Amino acid sequence: MSAEGLSNLLHEERRFPPSEEFAAGAVAQSTLYDDAASDRRGFWGRQARDLVHWDTEFGEILDWSDPPFAKWFVGGRLNVAYNCVDRHVEAGHGERVAIHWEGEPGDSRAITYAELQRLVCRAANALTDLGVTTGDRVAIYLPMIPEAVIAMLACARLGAPHSVVFGGFSSEALRSRIEDAQAKVVVTADGGYRRGKASALKPAVDEAVGRSTSVEHVLVVRRTGQDVEWTNGRDVWWDDALGKASTEHAYEPQDAEATLYILYTSGTTGNPKGIQHTSGGYLVQCAYTHKYVFDLRPERDVFWCTADVGWVTGHSYLVYGPLANGATQVMYEGTPDTPHRGRWWEICQKYGVTILYTAPTAIRTFMKWGEDEVARFDLSTLRLLGSVGEPINPEAWVWYRRVVGGDRTPVVDTWWQTETGAIMISPLPGITAAKPGSAMTPLPGICADVVDDSGEPVPNGSGGFLVLTQPWPGMLRTLWGDDERFLDTYWSRFPGRYFAGDGAKKDDDGDLWLLGRVDDVMNVSGHRISTTEVESALVSHPKVAEAAVVGASDPTTGQGIVAFVILRGSAEEGEDTARELRDHVTQAIGAIAKPRQIMVVAELPKTRSGKIMRRLLQDVAENRELGDVTTLTDSTVMDLIREGMSGGSAADEA
Ligand code: WTA
Repeated sequence: MSAEGLSNLLHEERRFPPSEEFAAGAVAQSTLYDDAASDRRGFWGRQARDLVHWDTEFGEILDWSDPPFAKWFVGGRLNVAYNCVDRHVEAGHGERVAIHWEGEPGDSRAITYAELQRLVCRAANALTDLGVTTGDRVAIYLPMIPEAVIAMLACARLGAPHSVVFGGFSSEALRSRIEDAQAKVVVTADGGYRRGKASALKPAVDEAVGRSTSVEHVLVVRRTGQDVEWTNGRDVWWDDALGKASTEHAYEPQDAEATLYILYTSGTTGNPKGIQHTSGGYLVQCAYTHKYVFDLRPERDVFWCTADVGWVTGHSYLVYGPLANGATQVMYEGTPDTPHRGRWWEICQKYGVTILYTAPTAIRTFMKWGEDEVARFDLSTLRLLGSVGEPINPEAWVWYRRVVGGDRTPVVDTWWQTETGAIMISPLPGITAAKPGSAMTPLPGICADVVDDSGEPVPNGSGGFLVLTQPWPGMLRTLWGDDERFLDTYWSRFPGRYFAGDGAKKDDDGDLWLLGRVDDVMNVSGHRISTTEVESALVSHPKVAEAAVVGASDPTTGQGIVAFVILRGSAEEGEDTARELRDHVTQAIGAIAKPRQIMVVAELPKTRSGKIMRRLLQDVAENRELGDVTTLTDSTVMDLIREGMSGGSAADEA
C-alpha cells in the first residue's frame, strides 16, 4: 500500500456503533474484555468448560513451560466429532438442519444433525474398514460437497489427522502434500461442478497416488457420474463403503493435544508448511470466536461462510466452529456467477441467511458487477456481515454494509491466519463501534501488539510488524515434522513473541489496521501463495533460465501475480511462450497460482549481494502505463529496471 493510501486510512473518521436494538440483544457483553484481562488463563478455562464437552476434565489450563511449544487444557480428553454432532442430537436438536447444501447445478440437500451423526458414524466405520486407526493421516481432496465435512468429522472421530487439499490444487501439489504427511487413505470424488461444467478430480489423484508409497486406498465419492479410471483393490466407492457400514460408532476420546489436522500453507521458502492443529485448544477457540464474533444464536441463525473447505476459513467456520455450536449453515458448491451474478443473493434469500462471512475480493467483485444484482433479492434476514482473508478497503467495507447489509448490519473485519487457527483480531458486534477498514482490537483473551524493527512496541499513530505476545488456545503447535522451521519462521524474528508476517498500524486510538504481508507471500483473492513457489515452478520449465515473481496490487483480487523471466538462449519470446509458462505453473501448483502477466526480460535487477530487488519489480509491475505487454526486453520496463539498478544499494532489501 502506498504511503498516501496509508495516511488516508488512518484518517478514517467514520464510525459505525451498533444499533441500540442490536446491542440490547447481543451475545457478547463488554464484561468479556474485563474478565479476560483480569485472569486470561481462567477466562480460557471457563470458555473451554462452557463451550466444549470433555470426557475427562482438564487440569492445568496452559502449560507454557517449554515455549513456544504450548499445551492447552492439559490432561483433558474429548472427541471433536462428538462435540460437533452427537451432543446436539443428545440435547434434542437432532431435527435441526446442520447443513443446507446447494449444488452448483441447482440440486440441494438438507442434512439434519441426526442424519449427520449417522453419516459420520458410517464414514468412521468405513475408514476403519480401510485400515485407518488413531494417528493415521487421511488426505481429503474434494469439491464443496457435504462429504468433505463428513470425511473430516469421521477422521476427527477416529483421531486420524486429516489433511485437506484444496480441490483446485494440481496433482503435483496434492502429491507433495500426501508424501509429506504420509497419508494412508485419500478421499476424493469423480469430479465437481464449476462454472456450469463437470470438472474431473479423480485423474489428479490417480497421478499423485501412482507415485506414492504411503497410500493404501482411495475412497471415491460419486458426484458428477463421469467415467473414472479404476485401480482394483485400491479404489473404493464411498457409497459402497458407507452403505455396508453401521450407523453406530463408539468414539474414543482423544487427548486435548492430539493432532486434529494438518493444513498446508505457503511459506516464504521451500515447500508448503504443514500447519499442525490440536483437538482441544483449537475447538475451544473456534467455538468461542464463532459464538461471540458472529453473535450466534443457534436456534434461529442461518450462518453462511463462503470459504472452500480446502482453506483454514472453511475448516474453522464451515466445519468446526459452527458445528461445535450446533448452528444451521449453508454450504455452496460453485462460483458466484453461475448461472447468474445474483446466485449468492438468491441463496441468501432461499435459506434466510442471517450471518454472511466472506472475503474482500468477493465484495469487490460484486461492486464491479453493480448494486442491481444484489437488489433483485430479499436480503432482509441478514443481520451481521463478516470479512476475512485480506485487508478490506474502507470503500468495500461501506459498500458491503450499505448494499448487502441494508445499512443496518454490523460488519466484522476479522484478522487471523492458518497458523492462529481461529479469529484473533476483530470487533465484537453489539459492543465495538467499528471503523471501516480496521480490524479494531484483539478479542478478549488474545494479546497482540505492533512493534518496530527492534521489537519495541510502536506508539499510537505508527506502523510496524504485528506480533502476538501471549499464547492462545488455537495456535499451531508446530509444523508437521519440522520443529526447527516452526521456531525459525515464527519465533526467531522477535524472541518470545509470535511473528505473524503482517504489517500493521495503530491509529490514534490504538485500533489496529492490518496492511498485508511483509514477507514474500502474496495474497491473491485471499489465498496465500509464495513468490518462491511460483518461481520454482517457472524455473522448472526447460525454457526458463531465471524467474522473479511479485504480487502487484489488483483492484479486485487484492494482488495479482506478475512474473519476470529470463529465457534460455534458444527460447522464443512471445504470446505462445507466455501461455506455455502460465500453463506450466497451473500444472505445478494449480490455477490459483497462474501469473496474471509474464514479462520476458534480459536481466533482473539485483543488489550487490545478489538479491533480486523485488520492490523495484513491484513498482514496475504496478505501473499501469505499461499496459499488458508481455515482451519487454527493450521497453520502458528495462529502462526502469536499469534505472533502479544504477540507483545503487539503497534499495537493498531485508
Ligand atoms: C491476511 C486466512 C487483513 C494476512 C484466515 C494474514 C488479513 C493472511 C485479514 C492469512 C484481515 C487475513 N485483514 N489481512 N481481516 N485476514 N489476512 O492463512 O496477511 O489463508 O497473514 O488465513 O491473510 O491467510 P490464511
